[in-house]
Amino acid sequence: MTEVLAALGLAPEQVEAVLTAASLAPSVHNSQPWRFRLLPDRIELHADPDRTLPATDPDGHEMRLACGAALLNLRLALQGFGVRPLVTILPGQEAHGALATIRRGGQLAPDDEMLALLKAVPQRRTNRHPFFESGVEGRHRHALVRAAELERSWLHVVDTREEVARMKSFVRRAHTIQLRDPEVQAELESFTGDRPGAADGVPRANAGFRPETQDEWIFRDFQAGERVAGKDYESNPLVAVVCSHYRGQLADIQAGQAMQRVLLTATTLGLSASFMSQPVEVRNVREELRRALGGTLVPHTLLRIGYSTPVPATPRRPISELLMEPTNSAS
Ligand SMILES: Cc1cc2nc3c(=O)[nH]c(=O)nc-3n(C[C@H](O)[C@H](O)[C@H](O)COP(=O)(O)O)c2cc1C
Repeated sequence: MTEVLAALGLAPEQVEAVLTAASLAPSVHNSQPWRFRLLPDRIELHADPDRTLPATDPDGHEMRLACGAALLNLRLALQGFGVRPLVTILPGQEAHGALATIRRGGQLAPDDEMLALLKAVPQRRTNRHPFFESGVEGRHRHALVRAAELERSWLHVVDTREEVARMKSFVRRAHTIQLRDPEVQAELESFTGDRPGAADGVPRANAGFRPETQDEWIFRDFQAGERVAGKDYESNPLVAVVCSHYRGQLADIQAGQAMQRVLLTATTLGLSASFMSQPVEVRNVREELRRALGGTLVPHTLLRIGYSTPVPATPRRPISELLMEPTNSAS
């Protein structure tokens, strides 16, 4: 364990606030797979090899998405302190093993959009509760699509009835395959339910309601409570696929930033969102999904978006546990 140091011209308390913002990013099962190394001239973002999910996410793609989301939060928090972040994704020898380095690129007066996104960082939550039946307005859809574009990625909105049916079948099929995989289920269980004092995982209060066979969209089962009468899931949420334009680790990290920008933008618009990642986690289904999207886009995760009631925040690990030793890195 190490302490928060000054970096990029910011005092330790400011750096701590920046890392706190980063740590509020979403991650699969709330595994929080990120670590940070603080040096006077840079912050390094690394994946945490102790927090991988080898059965659910064998190639680490979702881990990189989560770290990309943390990177976006970190950029916003730096901008909130007037620092223009200069980001190098996959810096190579310069910072061995890092997913990204962030340096000070001068001063920056934060604009209104950036401040709104930053304000949304602690407000954003994965909401697994039923949504209201009201549809998402066209201008809000545009704002979400634009959010992904600004991060060099793409948000594919699932629109036609046929496409909705196809997506539902991908989710159902992948979910069924995962239910039969004891290792995937063991990883889910290890992060699920009431685990007193736990600083990670998905507590029961965030689990939504137990999936039922008649459900049209199948959500992951975090040992949710039984369905309350009258609390059925909405029939027609906005479903959108976060995509990149190419494959590879760089694209994963960019798509993670795009995913987070979409989620934060949704938060600023009063929209709730949850994930249905099963189809991208099961290799064959992911390939079919990719072809169904036209064969050029690379799908990263499915989002369900709509209006809902508030849910509590999930826990986070203390910042002290996220720090790597500042030494033994190339400077
Ligand atoms: C790449 C990725 C995939 C996810 N997939 C799912 C999913 O399939 N089902 C689900 O209920 N939540 C999913 N989540 C949401 C996480 O469980 C959630 O982010 C985590 O529990 C932290 O809670 P928060 O988002 O409310 O901060 C996913 C998150 C990420 C980043």
